[in-house]
Amino acid sequence: MPLLIRNGDIITSGSRTQADIWIEDETITRIGRDLVAPPGAEVIDATGKYVFPGFLDPHVHIYLPFMSTFAKDTHETASIAALVGGTTTYIEMCCPSRLDDPLEAYQLWRSKAEGQSACDYTFHMSVTQFGDKTEGQLREIVADGISSFKIFLAYKNFFGVDDGEMVRTLQLARKLGVIVTAHCENADLVASLQASLLAAGHTGPEWHEPSRPESVEAEGTNHFATFLEATGAAGYVVHLSCRAALERALAAKARGVRLWVESVIPHFILDKTHAERPGVEGMKHVMSPPLRERSNQKALWDGLRTGAIDTVGTDHCPFDVAQKWMGKDAFTQIPNGIPGIEERVNLLYTYGVRKGGLDLHRFVDAASTQAAKLFGLFPRKGTIAVGADADIVVYDPAFRGVIAASAQHTNCDYSGFEGMPIEGRPSVVTVRGKVQVRDGAFVGERARGKFLKREPGYL
Ligand code: URP
Ligand code: ZN
Ligand code: ZN
Repeated sequence: MPLLIRNGDIITSGSRTQADIWIEDETITRIGRDLVAPPGAEVIDATGKYVFPGFLDPHVHIYLPFMSTFAKDTHETASIAALVGGTTTYIEMCCPSRLDDPLEAYQLWRSKAEGQSACDYTFHMSVTQFGDKTEGQLREIVADGISSFKIFLAYKNFFGVDDGEMVRTLQLARKLGVIVTAHCENADLVASLQASLLAAGHTGPEWHEPSRPESVEAEGTNHFATFLEATGAAGYVVHLSCRAALERALAAKARGVRLWVESVIPHFILDKTHAERPGVEGMKHVMSPPLRERSNQKALWDGLRTGAIDTVGTDHCPFDVAQKWMGKDAFTQIPNGIPGIEERVNLLYTYGVRKGGLDLHRFVDAASTQAAKLFGLFPRKGTIAVGADADIVVYDPAFRGVIAASAQHTNCDYSGFEGMPIEGRPSVVTVRGKVQVRDGAFVGERARGKFLKREPGYL
């Protein structure tokens, strides 16, 4: 059904316009003042609201076998949570272990999403080993519409690649024009620190951060940047958490390395004291890189304001309380990850725009437009323009609420952000012109989401 969004304050990464938006056949077909809706059209009054492009989360885990268990969401639960929070597209990490066949894994990850997601989606393809068949298989995956890879410098013997494998991945990516995203922590240092902490009887979640200190992430970031420089590939650091790592990334950017930076919402809002809480309360806040000393948050917010940090994702990765308890005797057994797909936009708006002086356009840029540009989805996604997909968030800045696990849509029994006030939330969310959310409730089509094919853009 055609849709008219009237009287909105339309905010994109580069413009602000008071206008109406006319949507037909899944796309935006007109933007202008006083557009007249023909009989039968659905009309949404956006007076007093912002109208943002649908938000894009460039880093989520949905199907994930990891640390002897599985992340809790399905595409159904994750996509509904995403939409309620204003995210209309996500990029899931397809993460086979080193023992899995990459092509079979890719097909498995695609099958988990097919017909199950209520929002649009694509994947970063993780390269977790590089054998004789890998290049051919990756070429097939790229031909199927995947234009970004993922490597892990952490998680030795499971997802982690060694330096030789990293070089081969980056060389191939350079040839294909694919961007490589990377988890940057030095795996050998982490393994060694974990072993000595456990040997000293330090078993609780408060020891997770000391086992992966800032220096380990800074080294990983610099290591990745050095390999990008040597191969000429384009790269993207995921979930950068601290000042020391940001300095390494910025130094690389300054010397011309094609490198972009993502930080994720937990690192802006939470700090290491959350993981130092006793028992399972601490375990709920174990993720990697770990929550840091609060002083790092200034570097992250400043970096976000200036554009030194390009995007804000979530690293959404829900494990429930029972799963977190798997690490009761050793912090190394706590499944790493925190859910956040539903809270990212509201937290960034509340603690960035409202309380932190983050420019409204930079907010849209970091939470939507930049990721669309970097990962080959722009201008179909990431903006409000004639011809773009009609993924729209009508956002109510007058809403006041508090985050509570009891109200969340992700399949997890806790929220790492429990009790935090939010000032604003989506009142209407559309996916290609179909209203999927109204005032915090999913009201749409469960299988609306489509797999988005992308072209490599870094030749
Ligand atoms: O703790 C995290 N980040 N869990 C998910 C896996 C990853 O490293 O992104
Ligand atoms: Zn990671
Ligand atoms: Zn991740």
